[in-house]
Formats: sequence, structure tokens, C-alpha cells
Amino acid sequence: MTNRGPLILAIESSCDDTSVAVLQGFNVLSNCVHNQEIHREFGGVVPEMASRAHIQYIVPTILAALRTSKKEFNQLEGIAVTQGPGLQGSLLVGHSMAKSLSLALTIPLINVNHIEGHMLSCYLVEKGIQKNSSLEFPYLCLTVSGGHTQIVIVKNWDNFEVLGQTLDDSVGEAFDKSAKLLSLDYPGGPIIDRYSKHGNPDRFVFNKTRMSGVNFSFSGIKTNILQTMQKEQKIRANTLTNDLDDWCASIQKSLIAPLVQNTKKAIFNTGIKRLAIAGGVSANTFLRDEITRLAMKENIEIYIPPLSYTMDNAAMIGAVGQFSMLNGVYDHVSSSAKARITSDKWKYLDI
Ligand code: KG4
Ligand code: ZN
Repeated sequence: MTNRGPLILAIESSCDDTSVAVLQGFNVLSNCVHNQEIHREFGGVVPEMASRAHIQYIVPTILAALRTSKKEFNQLEGIAVTQGPGLQGSLLVGHSMAKSLSLALTIPLINVNHIEGHMLSCYLVEKGIQKNSSLEFPYLCLTVSGGHTQIVIVKNWDNFEVLGQTLDDSVGEAFDKSAKLLSLDYPGGPIIDRYSKHGNPDRFVFNKTRMSGVNFSFSGIKTNILQTMQKEQKIRANTLTNDLDDWCASIQKSLIAPLVQNTKKAIFNTGIKRLAIAGGVSANTFLRDEITRLAMKENIEIYIPPLSYTMDNAAMIGAVGQFSMLNGVYDHVSSSAKARITSDKWKYLDI
């Protein structure tokens, strides 16, 4: 994939991170993220507070991204922005800013689906360093975030086939809700990951939910985690604090296992031997180890994103923006942000 290509500014504001990146082709010149700490004390993202914080931080983050990339507004050739899915109030801030810039600078606007950004982030090239591999199409992508849990065949930059997905909670939600039961902060996923390193993953065993094909379900496991905690607390009242490492390791193992099992199934069913993981939960140490082990055993080419590209970031929105610009696909400034997106680029299969 080339480093040459248009100079674009990318904006991501779908949830609680205000992020702006500058890309030349797929080369990331800057990728600034302002993480909103304000939600921590509420145990989850408060939508109204998120959109207010985006308004406060969007301009400073744009200026920081331009400064870091050593580029000026008048050099930009396009604006890529997350159109959805996400929180409507948060999306509106980034999207309105992108439309204003597009009009003021008379450069094209490109609307980007946030999930497509996660899935195409394997094409990003870190500043000045040519990446040795970017996956060729088609590849499988395990997308695991706070809002999504799906296995998709990425047939091309604008062609996605969903093989399986969660029928209830996302795996990120299951991590966060389990962490809440353990009185841990939000977001709980990275905290569970940290405590798990010192814990026994086989100490507590939770019921598995059997699903058809490569679909997922996490609400049953979540309920069973709560029931197991209540049962154990009757025997040892302080188990949740005294055995915290073991609880975390056991929960992590039970939430990651279906991801790895279904990924393995999808590889066998499709015969596709290229695999990417994407989204916030792809930062999970145990998942990264398990996927690496699977890839070595089955001789699969894998892309495991650097940690900076697992969390929400504007560089990944820029990657889709580049594909769009290279293919002459632009959007109109009368378009609007959408909390939910449906698109004919996406097909849903049963295998
Ligand atoms: O992709 P993302 O940043 O935002 C969404 O688009 O949803 O994903 C956020 C999710 C949260 O549920 C968070 O707890 C989880 O990713 N997460 C992790 C880890 N880091 C972030 N879950 C497990 N282990 C981690 N290391
Ligand atoms: Zn995301």
C-alpha cells in the first residue's frame, strides 16, 4: 500500500474520545486523542457530558494534529469523518466540524463508518516506518469493541460479509459489566486484563452458552458470573476482594474463549488464511496471545494492531478516507451524522 496519496484530516467523535489525525496516503503524520476522564466516576459514558466535552476539545485537538504533522489548513485535500454508528450528540460535533471545514476549505467530505475504520486500520503505516505486511483482501476480521462483536470477511475496502455476531451484549460490555460487579472502575476491560496476569484462570468456572454458526452471546455468561459470585460470597464473604486476581483471570478466560473458538471455526469454514483483530477488546493480552498461538498452529497470516490503534482513534477513519479518495467516492455536505448506519456495502451471511 502506497505512502503517497492525498493529505487528509480525519475526525473521530463517536463516543468518549475526541480524536483527530493527519494522513498522507496511509502514512499517519499525527494521531491525537483526547480521552474524556469525566465518565469514570459514573461507571459508563454519559452521552450529554460526552458531546459537551467534544465541543470543548474538538478545536484544540484539530490544532494539535496539524501542529504535530507540521501541516497547514490550506494544504489539506480532504476531510474524513465518522458518520456513525455511535452516540448521536457526540457524532454531531465531529460531523458538523468536518462539514464546516469542507465548506470553508472547499475540499471533499468523506463520511466513514466507525466499524469499517477499525477493520481497515491494518493498512495504516506508522510515521516514517514502512510496515512489512498489510493484509491483502479478502481477510477475516474479528471486531471486538464496546458496541460490537462480529466476525466479518473483509472482501474489499467497501465490501463486508458478516459471518457471525453477538445476539445480545458485546464482549466489551461483558468485560465492563463484570468489572462493575467486582467494584472496578470504568472501563473495566483493561483493569480485568491487568489483574488477570496474577490470577488462576481455572479457579472459577462459568457456564458456556452454545450458539449456532459463529454467532456469540454474552448475556448468559454475565448472569452466571453474578450467580457464581453470590454463591462463593456465602462461603467466603470477602472473596471478591481477596481473590480478585483469580476472579479476573477466570472471567477473562470465559469471555475470550468463544472469540477464539469462533474465529477458528470461521477460518476452517471459509478457508481464508488471513486474519485481523480490531476494536478496544483487541488490546486484551490473553486474546492477543491466543490469536498469535492459533495463527502459528494453523499457519495464518495475522494483523494484531499496535495498542494505539485498538482504541478509538481518527487515524483508522483516515484509512477509510484514503480508500474513498483513491476511488473518487465523496459525500455531500448536506449529509448528516447517524447513530445507526445501514449500508449496501454490508451483507449478512449464515455459515
Ligand atoms: O473500540 P472501543 O475503544 O470503543 C467502542 O467503539 O466501543 O472499545 C471499548 C471497549 C470497552 O468495553 C473496554 O473495556 C474494552 O474495549 N477494552 C478491553 C481492553 N482494553 C479496552 N477489554 C479487555 N481487555 C483490554 N485490555
Ligand atoms: Zn470503536
